[in-house]
Amino acid sequence: MKQKVFANTENVCLNQIHPNPTPQSFILIEMKKIILFIGVYLALCQVVFSSEGRQVKSINFDWKFTLTNPQGASAKAFDDTKWRALDLPHDWSIEGEFKKENPSGTSGAFLPGGIGWYRKDITLEKIDPNTIYSIRFDGVYLNSDVWINGFHLGFHPNGYLGFEYDLTPYLIEGKNTIAVKVDHSKLPSGRWYTGSGIYRNVWWETKNRTYLLEEDLFITTPQVSTEKATVHLAASILNQKKRKAKIEVQINVLDKEGQLVSSTVKKYQFQKQQEIALDFEVENPNLWSPKSPSMYTMETIITHNGKEIDCYSTTFGIRKVEWKPNEGVFLNDEPILIKGLSNHQDAGPLGVAVPEDVLYRRLKMLKDMGCNALRTAHHPFAPEFYTMCDTMGFMVMDEAFDGWWNTKAKFDYGLHFEEYWKKDLETFIKRDRNHPSVVIWSVGNEVKGYTNEQQKLLVEEAKKWDTTRPVTQGRGYKGDHIDIAGFNGHGEFKNVLEKYNEDHPQKLIIGTEITHTLQTRGVYRTKTWYRTKDNPAPWEKPEHFKKLEPKIYKIEDLSEEEVFEGISPKYQSSYDNSIVRIGVRDDWNRVEQMDFYVGNFRWTGFDYLGESFNWPARTANFGIIDLAGFPKDHYYLYQSLWSDQPMVHLLPHWSHKGKEGVKIPVVVYTNCDEAELFLNGASLGRKPMNESRQIVWQVPYQKGELKVVAYTDDKIQASKTIKTAEEAYTTTLTTDKRVLQADRKDVLHCEVSVVDQNGVFVPNASNELQFKVTGGGHLIGIENGDILDMSSSKYDLNRKAFNGKCLLIIQSNGQKGNIKIEVEGEGLKSQQLIINTIVL
Ligand code: GAL
Repeated sequence: MKQKVFANTENVCLNQIHPNPTPQSFILIEMKKIILFIGVYLALCQVVFSSEGRQVKSINFDWKFTLTNPQGASAKAFDDTKWRALDLPHDWSIEGEFKKENPSGTSGAFLPGGIGWYRKDITLEKIDPNTIYSIRFDGVYLNSDVWINGFHLGFHPNGYLGFEYDLTPYLIEGKNTIAVKVDHSKLPSGRWYTGSGIYRNVWWETKNRTYLLEEDLFITTPQVSTEKATVHLAASILNQKKRKAKIEVQINVLDKEGQLVSSTVKKYQFQKQQEIALDFEVENPNLWSPKSPSMYTMETIITHNGKEIDCYSTTFGIRKVEWKPNEGVFLNDEPILIKGLSNHQDAGPLGVAVPEDVLYRRLKMLKDMGCNALRTAHHPFAPEFYTMCDTMGFMVMDEAFDGWWNTKAKFDYGLHFEEYWKKDLETFIKRDRNHPSVVIWSVGNEVKGYTNEQQKLLVEEAKKWDTTRPVTQGRGYKGDHIDIAGFNGHGEFKNVLEKYNEDHPQKLIIGTEITHTLQTRGVYRTKTWYRTKDNPAPWEKPEHFKKLEPKIYKIEDLSEEEVFEGISPKYQSSYDNSIVRIGVRDDWNRVEQMDFYVGNFRWTGFDYLGESFNWPARTANFGIIDLAGFPKDHYYLYQSLWSDQPMVHLLPHWSHKGKEGVKIPVVVYTNCDEAELFLNGASLGRKPMNESRQIVWQVPYQKGELKVVAYTDDKIQASKTIKTAEEAYTTTLTTDKRVLQADRKDVLHCEVSVVDQNGVFVPNASNELQFKVTGGGHLIGIENGDILDMSSSKYDLNRKAFNGKCLLIIQSNGQKGNIKIEVEGEGLKSQQLIINTIVL
């Protein structure tokens, strides 16, 4: 079989073969990328490029852009030479200034919208009459109109779902011009930061006029055991030629090594459309699970008179998921708890234009924490997200919508819902249903004023396209038609889940948005705080709070008097004592104790832009990882609850000048049986882990070294040491890669930490830092994680360290040679780092 991978093709699957990119292993990883590219790519990609028929090429590079609305910009002859040149994906909102008067307001992180235009020329030397040409956008926010050579191709109002246009009738040999108008002038258009522009990948596709219809292809695994699985393929082949198609179709099932495990050949003759339904047996299958995310590939090769005219590959997994009332979720006959996180799609300083390396770094952190499930709040994510979830091993609760017919933000999709929801729901489910990672659909979230009838409509429509997965709805438990009862914040009150189970014993409960807690990295308060104290939700205003108080799972104060006074009320404590209604530990105890409560999707994994409650703040600090991707202490709390790898963590930091002799609560999170704390070498006692899921010592402060050692069965399993820092002296620069590909796509992250003369991290440093990146890379984002820092994410090259840290995100600019990263800081010795680039 002939197959060709185009070197200039965007590879949506490279991350599937990313091992952990630690600096030490990175060169090896890059080499592996080269070697594995051809072999593994074919086995893992959603799309395979055939030399004869199907080709899919990235057209992300070299677009023209203007953030204006000029007359006549859709016309081919329009002069765009003065527009800005850029590569996609692109989000113009994050390039703007945070301004109180921007209409996106608290929801949209006070960033601007507007109307923007993109244009790109594509030159075709020859047009093949047997070929269909199309363009596919994975996501444009918002309200896009697309033209080719002045012909209007269509309007697409959904900012989270991709769309495709057939270009064939409009193309000419020579120069063709694509023009895209993006209208995000009416804000707020969402309750979170949405971004603006062509913020996902764009693809140029060609295929033979007789071809496999991707959206109809559906692979299911109706019978699964460790000995044998049945894999069912449902597909259709279209023929757009006048004469009858006489074809041979070969279907191969390949395992993760690319070995053939099953195959069949069929002949068909048909005029317009041919349906295919076939079963394949796979002996001793490698079953998919978060711990062992084994993928298979199904290749469909169509030949005519012995000549290959189409080849399409889809990756899939063999797994069985059962949701059993009152028992829980079973994956391949084993019980499994949903250790999940809700996330929005933005990546802090990059807005919603998120390169694959950035997405991969984020998911890898979650994987290392022991998280096994993700919820796409509150809309479809980029296609590469699901591919990474398949191969990295996450279960996905895939969410279609936030609200339905009633808008939740003034200009959101609710305005278009009536006209578009059915088609969009179909596109969404067909797009994602072959991913083994997707285990449950969600048709909405906190839908305003929904009726039982409306829920029925949505659920039935979803089931038209997939009956193999259950359907839920964030806070949709009041309706009768969802399969699994989704509970948001309301489920965090005492006895609510228990009561629901009594009344509906046949329905499992999933915490679609539980737990909500708020933390700021590096900030500590020893007295417990409820959200109502600083940024109350409307129902949590003090007078209402009195009524709610008895229903809240209280957390005891860690001290009688507050130890850390004078902290801005906008910042939240990183002990597990800043909650909305229930803390992480109490909620995870509920999951472990109640079989009908199958797990939860915490609100949220990462801090996200928007929903900041008030100016001047960019976010409300719901994440357990900050906007820069630096973990907060809660990251380790979850790791202690979710991961099997022995770990131990202690907090707070140990640099508290002026607090000598004051008792500081030292908290330890561990998944081991016991922990022992040492201050300057002296043991402060060994204590067992218990139901409170944390171990606390009250330690009179004395500068020096604090060390924790964790034991299971009396054997040391893990330890951690923190030291008191002296004055800030310089910075350390740590990158996740040692080389960067000179391909205009590759990205590295550089962590800048303020340290003292002995290299000890200074946890409260806030020195002003200046950054310079020259050579083969450019800075695409600077982020310190401070929710109150309203510096422009893209253009301010100065940034203060926030609690000792700042992150630089650097992307290849295509030039070969070194990248020089220079960091200077107020009162600090400057540092620089050289990164090499390579060309593959
Ligand atoms: C929920 C909502 C989420 C987010 C969260 C913040 O009600 O579904 O999208 O707004 O509140 O607490």
